Amino acid sequence: MSNSELARIYINTKRVISEISPLLFSGFAEHMGRCIYQGIYEPGSPRADENGLRKDVLAALRELNFRSMRYPGGNFVSGYRWEDGIGPQDKRPRRREMAWQSIETNQFGTDEFINFCREIGTEPMLAVNLGTGTIQDAANLVEYCNAPTGSHYADLRARNGHPEPHGVKYWCLGNEMDGPWQIGHLDAVDYAKKASEAAKLMRLQDDSLELVLCGSSSSLMPTYPEWDRIGLEMCWELVQYHSMHYYANNRADDSPSFLALSAAFEDYVDTVAAVLRYVKAKTRSKHDVYLSWDEWNVWYKARESTDLRGGWQEAPHLIEEVYNLEDALVVAQWLNVFLRRADVLKIACIAQIVNVIAPILTTSDNLLKQTIYYPLLVFSQMASGNSLDLLVDSPRYETEQFGDMPLLDVSAAHDEAAGANAIFIVNRSLTERMPIEIRWQDVTPKRFTSARQLAGDDPKAFNSWEDPNQLTTQAIYAPKIIDGAAQLSLPPLSFTALGVEL
Ligand code: AHR
Repeated sequence: MSNSELARIYINTKRVISEISPLLFSGFAEHMGRCIYQGIYEPGSPRADENGLRKDVLAALRELNFRSMRYPGGNFVSGYRWEDGIGPQDKRPRRREMAWQSIETNQFGTDEFINFCREIGTEPMLAVNLGTGTIQDAANLVEYCNAPTGSHYADLRARNGHPEPHGVKYWCLGNEMDGPWQIGHLDAVDYAKKASEAAKLMRLQDDSLELVLCGSSSSLMPTYPEWDRIGLEMCWELVQYHSMHYYANNRADDSPSFLALSAAFEDYVDTVAAVLRYVKAKTRSKHDVYLSWDEWNVWYKARESTDLRGGWQEAPHLIEEVYNLEDALVVAQWLNVFLRRADVLKIACIAQIVNVIAPILTTSDNLLKQTIYYPLLVFSQMASGNSLDLLVDSPRYETEQFGDMPLLDVSAAHDEAAGANAIFIVNRSLTERMPIEIRWQDVTPKRFTSARQLAGDDPKAFNSWEDPNQLTTQAIYAPKIIDGAAQLSLPPLSFTALGVEL
C-alpha cells in the first residue's frame, strides 16, 4: 500500500442517485444483556430520571438522532409474550428468557419503550413474535398500540395510563426466521405463509401499517437468496420492506481486506435488490418493496459461547464488543454504502445502541462513547437531501479477499433546500497519506462550512474508561475552494466529513 498519486473526486449535483431516507439513521434495542436493563433503563442509577431512564444515555442517543428504533428483538422477540411487559410493574412475571438464557423481569415493556422513543424523538419500530407467537398475538399487539379506546386491548392500554394510541407505523414480521437458532424457526414457505397471514390480520387492525418481511439473516446462509425470493413472491403485495442483516468481522486479522468490506456490503445489496426486481416483474406488480438493513454492525471479538449465554442472570454482560479505529472506518464505509444505494435502501438500524455491540457503553454512573459513535454522529447530522453519483478516481491496492480495490471510499449528499453538500471519505491505507482534489462540475461552491476527521496510527486503538477520548472526530483545517476545486491531504486510516456551502 503506497501512494503519492493525487486522487480525484468529481461532483455533479445533478447526478442524483436518490433522496436519502432519514430512516437510514436508525437503531435497534433488544432485551439482551445490558442493552435495556443497565443501559437504557436503570432505576437505581444516580443518572436515572423519575421513570428510570438513564439521562446520560438519553442525551447521547438524542445527539445521534436515531430516526427510528427497532424493538424488542432480535432473537429475543421469537419467545416474547408481549402481555408480560404491560400493566403494573409489580405484577409482571419474571421469566426464563430462552434466546439468551437470562432472567427477564419485564420491568421494561411496550409502554416504557414508547415513552423512551418519545424522549429521544424517534419513531418506534416494533417486531412481532412469529416464533412461539400466533398471528392473533401479533394483531392484539397492533390493537393495543394503535386502536382508539372502545375495545379490549385499546382499553387495556388506556387503563395502563395511555388513553391515546401509540400510533406505531413500522412493524417487523418476526426476526431471522431462516436461522435454525431462531426459536420457532420455519422453512421459507412456512414462514411466508405465517408472515402473510400475520400481515393480513395486523392490517385489518390498522391498514396504515408499514411492514418489514424477514429476509435472510446473512448472505452466508445456505438458503440465501432463495429464502428471499420465496418470501417476497408469497408476500409481495402485503409488505413495504424486506430485511437484511449482516455482522462484519476481522477474525482473520487481515486489515487490508477488512477495510475494503464495502465491496461485500454492496454485493449483498445488489443481490437482494435483484431479487426485488425479479419478484416485481414475475408478479406483474405495480407495488414496490424496499430494503430495511435492520441489523448491521461489526461484531466478532465478543462472540464466544459465554458471550451469548446469560447463565439465567438478570442483565448479564453479553457481547459487549470494544470497537477500535478500523471498526469505525468499516462503519463509516457502511454508511457510505447506504448513501450510494439510497435508491433501494430506505431503513437501516445499527445493532445495537447501548452496551450490546453498541456505540455507547455504560457503568452505573458513567458513559463511554466508542469509536463507532463518531461516524454515526457525523452521518446522522450531515447526510440529508439527495445522494450523489460521484466519479472517484483513486489509487488502488491489493487485498486478499476482494482483489484490487480503490484506496478511497466516498459518498456525498446534496441538500438543495439548505444549499449544501456533505462529502464523506475513508482513506483505507494503513500507512500512506492521500492527496486529493475535489472538483465540482456544475456549481462553484463558496466554502467549506465544516471539516471533521477521525484518524489514528493504530488500527487497533480504542477508547477506554481510562482514555475515553483517544479517538474522536477533530476539526481539521479546511482549504479554500478556488475555481470550483479544493485540495486536501488525508492521513492514513482516516474518515473525513466535509460540509460545503454552495
Ligand atoms: O443483535 C444480536 C443478535 O444478532 C440478534 O438478536 C439477532 O437477530 C442476530 O442474530
